[in-house]
Amino acid sequence: MFFKKKTRWYKVFETVGEAEERVPFYKTETVKAGNKKICIAHLPDGFFAVGDKCPHNGFSLGKGWCTPEHTVVCPLHRYAFDLKTGRAKTGLADYVNTYPVECRADGLFVGIEELVFTLFGE
Ligand code: FES
Repeated sequence: MFFKKKTRWYKVFETVGEAEERVPFYKTETVKAGNKKICIAHLPDGFFAVGDKCPHNGFSLGKGWCTPEHTVVCPLHRYAFDLKTGRAKTGLADYVNTYPVECRADGLFVGIEELVFTLFGE
């Protein structure tokens, strides 16, 4: 019996076009991926995904915005986090989790790493 980490992909928008419409450049939006709330950010070089809950005081990063410097900004006290590393750019809050995003023919997907139980370690 083993547990191993595996990335599970969740469709968060039915098409990439829907994602582009609902999350224009430099905007953010909260979506559900499994049981997690995820903040999707859209920049000219693509979509990014981070945990939605601001580590400073729990506000939704999906209600904020993002900048050309690959930063998502929380609207409540304006703490900023790097969309690629999750590290805080300002303030004392430490980091947000980052998640991979894939644009596929059948939608926009976010990958969440999960522990999976296997009998034979496959
Ligand atoms: S709750 Fe996000 S900066 Fe304070």
